[in-house]
Amino acid sequence: MTFDPKKYRADFPILKRLVRGKPLAYLDNAATTQKPRQVIKALVDFYEQNNANVHRGVHTLSEESTNMAELTRTKLAAFVGAPNPKTLIFTRNATESLNLIAHAWARKFLKAGDTILSTEMEHHSNIVPWQLLAAERGIQLEFVPVELDGTLDLAKVKAALAKGPKLFTFTALSNAIGTVNPVLELIKLGKAAGAVVSVDACQWAPHKPMDLKTWGADFVSFSAHKMLGPTGVGVLWGREDLLEAMDPFLGGGDMISRVTLEKSTWNELPYKFEAGTPNFADQVAFGPALDYLTAVGLENISKHENALADKTRAILEAEGMTVLGPKDPATRSGVVSFNVPGLHPHDVGTAFDLEGVAVRVGHHCCQPLMHLLQCGGTARASFYLYNDQSDVDAFERALKRTLEFFKIKPKAGVR
Ligand code: ALA
Repeated sequence: MTFDPKKYRADFPILKRLVRGKPLAYLDNAATTQKPRQVIKALVDFYEQNNANVHRGVHTLSEESTNMAELTRTKLAAFVGAPNPKTLIFTRNATESLNLIAHAWARKFLKAGDTILSTEMEHHSNIVPWQLLAAERGIQLEFVPVELDGTLDLAKVKAALAKGPKLFTFTALSNAIGTVNPVLELIKLGKAAGAVVSVDACQWAPHKPMDLKTWGADFVSFSAHKMLGPTGVGVLWGREDLLEAMDPFLGGGDMISRVTLEKSTWNELPYKFEAGTPNFADQVAFGPALDYLTAVGLENISKHENALADKTRAILEAEGMTVLGPKDPATRSGVVSFNVPGLHPHDVGTAFDLEGVAVRVGHHCCQPLMHLLQCGGTARASFYLYNDQSDVDAFERALKRTLEFFKIKPKAGVR
């Protein structure tokens, strides 16, 4: 199938709207992606035709709901190469997936004095749960330093792993500056050092193929809304024996096998970790998102958005803007993080919005990384399969108008 963003754009109703009288150029895909009509229709059809609570009834609608929600789990297992669909747990978001690991695995298996290793590049959701745990349990936290070009130095990773952390938890791809980490190598190093390895794949799963069997990690977290799916559906994949050994995260309906007033026993995987009524309608609508991504092909998506991001970087560099993140194209993605010298990122975002261009501004939930890169925040353009040259052109227009308006004239090459 030829890669045709024009055709894909037609599937996304929101891309037809105007923002401030200008065609929308949606470049905030790392925050959340837009939804194709196939996903929207699946959600509407489900509520109009099938809606009933799952795993609780023998009536027709309940059986239909249950089967439809479980079909997504089966599709997802094929999409990410999970050895068994029951090792995929639906959460609310990737933040909850990471907190689930902290509560249900780390609380049970780590003790005072143990170390958790992460990196300085992490989203707050891969820092704060560990800080809470460290404070409660006397666990040590260590972070692999990030180089000034936004990459990890494997020698430093090895040195940190040599100290014997019990858990190594890192991002596959930086949401803030777009660094593509050497995931397979990091997993291999972590496992060789005897650590349990957790990968935050939020920005990887929507853009790059993954095969969990090949990866060989212990936990992998990501989120449906960043991959054309609805909000409110996160995913935690876990190694089956680890999930079996863990205690539940939340207690309540559906996660039990038997309850007496004295004690309870737990349901089988994955339901042991899915307490209460799950977000089954959105799980159902996540299925067509996976079909869509499979039909387009993640390799094609990644190639396309990298090309658009490279053009955007070139525009920024020609105007003398500060572009953060790796210089080596092999470690770059469809995320372009930048600053306009002398201008606050929020002013950049507001000026771009006047031109219909949606970029995210701020610290991107990565304050330690921003501190390290000596900026309070950045403006960030992030691309996806439905972006095309018209979005890059809109970005260039917005940048030029912003520079004109604020009378900013940095020399090309000045950083
Ligand atoms: N983590 C999301 C982002 O990077 C919200 O924008």
